Amino acid sequence: MHENGAELASACTACHGTGGQSQGAVPSLAGMKAARFSERMQAFKTGDGTIMNRIAPGYDSREIDMLARYFAAQPTATSDEAGDK
Ligand code: HEC
Repeated sequence: MHENGAELASACTACHGTGGQSQGAVPSLAGMKAARFSERMQAFKTGDGTIMNRIAPGYDSREIDMLARYFAAQPTATSDEAGDK
């Protein structure tokens, strides 16, 4: 298997920032709990969101799982919250 969470996540950097640390209005993904991440992705698949509803359907549950683990492991910009998984 060649793909991994980091590779999949490179498709998210344009909006969510490197390592999921957003610099702009889009929410950061770094340090997000894996369960919440997966929950949000499932909601987007069923039409929630303005932009993510067009992106999330491209990912199956195995890929969402890899992304969830990748982002949960990324340090947050405000290091106070790092390690809160
Ligand atoms: C074109 C810009 C764009 C790209 C690319 C993008 N996102 Fe998003 N993302 C958004 C926006 C905007 C929101 C806020 C919800 C909405 O309006 O859809 C969001 C919200 C989210 C949320 C919810 C965050 C929260 O705190 O509720 C998750 C999870 C997420 N995105 C995951 C991803 C993943 C994983 C990828 C890459 C596979 C990705 N996004 C790529 C724009 C983007």
